[in-house]
Amino acid sequence: MKIVAVNGSPRPNHNTAELLEGAIEGARSKGAQVERIDLYKVDFKGCRGCFACKRKGGKSLHKCGIKDGLTPILEAIAQADALIVGSPIYFSDVTGETRSFLERLLFQYLPYDPEVEDHTYFPRELKVGMLYSMGIPADPIDERLAPMERFLGQVFRMQVKSLKSQGCYPFVDSWEKYECSPMIADMLAAHEEGFGAQVKAAFELGASLSEG
Ligand SMILES: Cc1cc2nc3c(=O)[nH]c(=O)nc-3n(C[C@H](O)[C@H](O)[C@H](O)COP(=O)(O)O)c2cc1C
Repeated sequence: MKIVAVNGSPRPNHNTAELLEGAIEGARSKGAQVERIDLYKVDFKGCRGCFACKRKGGKSLHKCGIKDGLTPILEAIAQADALIVGSPIYFSDVTGETRSFLERLLFQYLPYDPEVEDHTYFPRELKVGMLYSMGIPADPIDERLAPMERFLGQVFRMQVKSLKSQGCYPFVDSWEKYECSPMIADMLAAHEEGFGAQVKAAFELGASLSEG
């Protein structure tokens, strides 16, 4: 079982990465081979709308036509059994880099013809897990994230499993060093109490993606 795990946070060792590492550990506990990618270290851009992936007879048909740092990652996902993506919530959505990655990943397999069987060019099932870390979301976050998860489920022929970790402490050190509400101190206490359970839930999610 091969799994690609993508960290869509600019911070390689904070909330999202901790959730992702939990999921990776869970996957490895079931014998999966996991490759972790930190998106902010990869030189790439989002979809350019070139439509090379839909050009009849073209050499990039059903494959992203852009060649950059994301190309080998998209190729690894095409060979994988499961994909795990972690992202912080920025302005009620995934981060810009995560979004750019998902555009490139999905559009190559998304038919522009509703008659195409199963509404996808991806030839088999790929299990997908999404992990999100956030503070206190102002918007109904499930609704904001649902469309992209729906596209993932359509293209990869499976229901996406997701974990949303709210109330994450934002800073890397004491809240007193930052201009912020003292309420953040309560957030730190709640985070310290509850985040371990979230990492454990991520472990279970990773393990479940590696089964069957
Ligand atoms: C630019 C920016 C925008 C953010 N927007 C939101 C938001 O809309 N809703 C929310 O709940 N948290 C928001 N946050 C908080 C982060 O989602 C949260 O701290 C997250 O756990 C950071 O993940 P990381 O530690 O992996 O970087 C924002 C943080 C930043 C830096």
